[in-house]
Amino acid sequence: MCGITGIILKKGNAAPLVYESLKRLEYRGYDSAGIASIDNLKLYMKKDSGKLDEIHKKIDLTDIPGPLVIGHIRWATHGYPDKINAHPHTDCTKTIAVVHNGVIENFLELRRELEEKGHKFITRTDTEVVPHLIEEEMNATDDLYTAVLRAVRKLKGSYALAIISSSEPDKIVCARNESPLIIGVGKEGMYCSSDIPAILEYTNKFITLDNREIAILTHDGVSIRKIKDEQVVYRTSFEVDWDIEQAEKQGYPHFMLKEIHEQPDSLRDALRLQEQYLDLVTTFLDRGREIFLVAAGTSYHACLAASYMFSKLAKLTTYPVIASEFIDRYGDAVGIDSVILAVSQSGETYDTLKAVDHARMRAATIIGITNNVASTLTRVSRAYLVQQSGPEIGVAATKTFTAQLIVLAQLALRLAKIRGKISQDEIDELKEKLYRMPEIIKETIIMTEEKVKELAEKYRDKNLFLFLGRGISTATALEGRLKLLEITYKPALAFPAAESKHGPISIVEEGVPVIFIAPYDETRKDVIGNIMEMKARGAEIIALCEEGDEEIKGLADEYIEMSRDIPGLLSPIPYVVPLQLLAYYLAVYNGLDPDKPRNLAKSVTVP
Ligand code: F6R
Repeated sequence: MCGITGIILKKGNAAPLVYESLKRLEYRGYDSAGIASIDNLKLYMKKDSGKLDEIHKKIDLTDIPGPLVIGHIRWATHGYPDKINAHPHTDCTKTIAVVHNGVIENFLELRRELEEKGHKFITRTDTEVVPHLIEEEMNATDDLYTAVLRAVRKLKGSYALAIISSSEPDKIVCARNESPLIIGVGKEGMYCSSDIPAILEYTNKFITLDNREIAILTHDGVSIRKIKDEQVVYRTSFEVDWDIEQAEKQGYPHFMLKEIHEQPDSLRDALRLQEQYLDLVTTFLDRGREIFLVAAGTSYHACLAASYMFSKLAKLTTYPVIASEFIDRYGDAVGIDSVILAVSQSGETYDTLKAVDHARMRAATIIGITNNVASTLTRVSRAYLVQQSGPEIGVAATKTFTAQLIVLAQLALRLAKIRGKISQDEIDELKEKLYRMPEIIKETIIMTEEKVKELAEKYRDKNLFLFLGRGISTATALEGRLKLLEITYKPALAFPAAESKHGPISIVEEGVPVIFIAPYDETRKDVIGNIMEMKARGAEIIALCEEGDEEIKGLADEYIEMSRDIPGLLSPIPYVVPLQLLAYYLAVYNGLDPDKPRNLAKSVTVP
């Protein structure tokens, strides 16, 4: 997730306005930033790595001339967050400048083709293919709009683009597919940006750009067309009356709720990992004598779920371990044949890095999965995957958890394929479902949010919650419990449902809410038995079950219905969503701030 802004003024210098706008986009990324303008048929550009205010102190981003300016704030996905890889990116002649948010999936093939035609690339980004493609098309058309149109037709993946050229200093050309882009209509000029808050200071009148649309912004208007057939789009503007603070949360009262709702998008990005990196990591996993999945907190729950996926799909035994326990438990056993798959959203968690360091010293292979390409974890990993979720501001991990699961599921499916342990049909079926997860999550939010609010209201005063599941749903139960206790401060327990009889059932008494994670998988029959046991002790049963599962609904006091036909192994991805919402609404109804739970930090960098 990066942020872009473009401004074209009737008169005056647009750079200070773009700089202010980038400050508001910092929540979308903060590892490098840059700005480009056109003045007197000349392209100016400034960019560097680091946080926006540090860069500004160093090179004064407002000090470039011209009424036509584009800017970018980066959350690196392809290429290290250094100055070279910072946006804007330019073509060989340095007349075209491009800022981009998204992932160009076919950039490697495009880059190869362009290099064969003589284009010189200087960065490791996916974005750099865009200015070179436009340059190539400009040779044939000499018209920026047509060149951009032809170029974006060749792109696969997601993009929000703003493009300027010193050969046409009266326009910004924008294009969008699956990354947000909004157009602002102002008295002093026209604007485009990744979101409304970034340009709200300049106008409150907006037009949305839809997927596969291209727009030309001049200082007094905008024209929009469909990328496919250039059909003209007539779209009226709308006005917003948000204040800036509301606007940063895009109308949501808290970042946590915004991030829960953002999951369809973050999952789409997590599904766009580069094939060659997935293949590389898969090969390392396949070669390992033993695989340790090492992580803390929510990331550990992702690892626990992954251990079921690896085992069932690839017939591979893996050991999920809480990072702080790794050295004491397995430290002496780790060696050159061990693979450590370390999962850490921040890539900076002390316990995870300490475990990784220990294993490195013993010559183990380190693989990282993180949301932070510039983290310590990526530096110490032999190979790594970046989940591409963008910054998560709420302290409780939500969108980054489901994205971790998506990455891990992709690895498990690849391993299944190369190890040949399940049929191609099964792999295809699961893959199809995995790629539909963004839609399924969207549907889940629509289906469950109102019901969850009702339940949160009903159970707001309860002071003990139990979360139970079997098989992979144990991981869902643990994560649901962690969300609830960390932001509501209410004691909660979670364990594999069958364990109840071995102790925990003794705390159950009349009215204790017990949440059963009960997808329609092979554990369902046994889960029904566990529901009966709890019911017999007076527990209030809240079942998270498939739509139309009358048997479970009939046993439960309350139920939340989920979409049908979700394969058990992928069920933690949608099933955790109502649990995230439940924790959120319970916190809010108890007057707590879910974004800032007491005693917790987003990144735990101490022992
Ligand atoms: C819970 C939460 C924490 C983190 C844990 C690991 O909502 O956010 O439990 O999951 O501190 O953090 P990372 O993934 O950055 O290593």
